[in-house]
Amino acid sequence: MIQVSAPAKIILFGEHAVVYGQAAIAVPISSLRAEAHAEFSRDKLSIIARDLDNKIIYFDGDDPLAETARLTLKKLNLKALQAKIIVQSNIPIASGLGSGAAISTVIIRAICGLTQNNLSNQEINKLVYEIEKIYHGTPSGIDNTVIVYEEAIYFVREQPIQHIANEKPLILLIGNTGKASLTKIAVGDVRKLFEFKPEHIKPVIEKIGWIAQSARQAMQNGDIQRLGQLMFDNHALLQQLTVSSPELDALVVAAKDASALGAKLSGGGRGGNMIALVTDDTKAQVKQALLGAGAVQVYETTIAKSDL
Ligand code: PMV
Repeated sequence: MIQVSAPAKIILFGEHAVVYGQAAIAVPISSLRAEAHAEFSRDKLSIIARDLDNKIIYFDGDDPLAETARLTLKKLNLKALQAKIIVQSNIPIASGLGSGAAISTVIIRAICGLTQNNLSNQEINKLVYEIEKIYHGTPSGIDNTVIVYEEAIYFVREQPIQHIANEKPLILLIGNTGKASLTKIAVGDVRKLFEFKPEHIKPVIEKIGWIAQSARQAMQNGDIQRLGQLMFDNHALLQQLTVSSPELDALVVAAKDASALGAKLSGGGRGGNMIALVTDDTKAQVKQALLGAGAVQVYETTIAKSDL
C-alpha cells in the first residue's frame, strides 16, 4: 500500500496579474491536504473519490482524474496498470485553495510510488500543469508549483521559481465565503476586460505586480504593517479587475474593522476565500468578525520564519 499527500495553497499576492507575466507570491497550507492510498488490484486502474460519494473513475473515463492517470502512465512509458487509488481531501473544492492541483499531485505520486518510479518535482509539476489546463483554461502555473514543491514561492510565469525569505512568522486567517466559484470564468472575464480596455486594465495589472515585488521585500524585512497595507491595496486593485464579490468585500471590511493588519481575496475570486493578516492579539476578534460577516469557515495558518 502506498500513501502520499499534497497540501492546499493560498495566493498571498498577485493573482490574475500573474497570468499576464507579473510576479505573485503563494504559500502552501500544510494543515489542509489531499491524500491518496494506492494498491495493486486485479482490475485495470480505477480511482475512487471519497469526497464525491465514493465515485469510481475508470482509467479510460472522461474525467480529469482519469486523464491524470493516463498522462502519468504515458510519462512512465507504461501501457497499463492494475491498481486502485483512493483519493480524499479536506481542501474545500472550487474555493481558491488548489484542491484540483493537490488531487492531481497525489494521483501522480501514488502511481510513481506503486510502480517504483521516481519523477522529480519538476517533472510532476509539468504533468499537474497539463491537468490544470483542463480545469482552468490558461493557468499561470502558480497553483501546481506551490503545491508540488510545498514551499513559499515568488512566481513569475515561465521563469524558474524563486524562494522567499520571511523574517517574521505570519499569522493568517482564511475566511471562506462558502460560495464556490470557477477560476476559469473569472480569468476569462479579466481577459475580456483586458482586451476591451487595455489602457485601463494594463496599469492595474502592473500595479499588482509592483505590490507583489514590494511584498517580497516586506516579508524579507519582517515589516508586517507594510505587508498588511499591501494586502488592502491589492484587494482594491482586484476589485477593479471585477473579481471581488459582495461576500468577499464584506469579509475584507470586517477584518479591517476588527484591526487586521491587512486583508484581500485570494485566488480566482468572485467567491472562494479571502485572507487576513493578524497578530496573536487580534486573531480571535478578527475570526469572530469574519464569522459575523458571513464566513462559513475560518482556518488559521502560520507562515513560518524562513531563510533563503
Ligand atoms: O485557482 P485559484 O482560485 O487559486 O486561482 C488561480 C490564480 C489565478 O491567478 C486567478 C489564475 C492563474 O492561473 O494564476
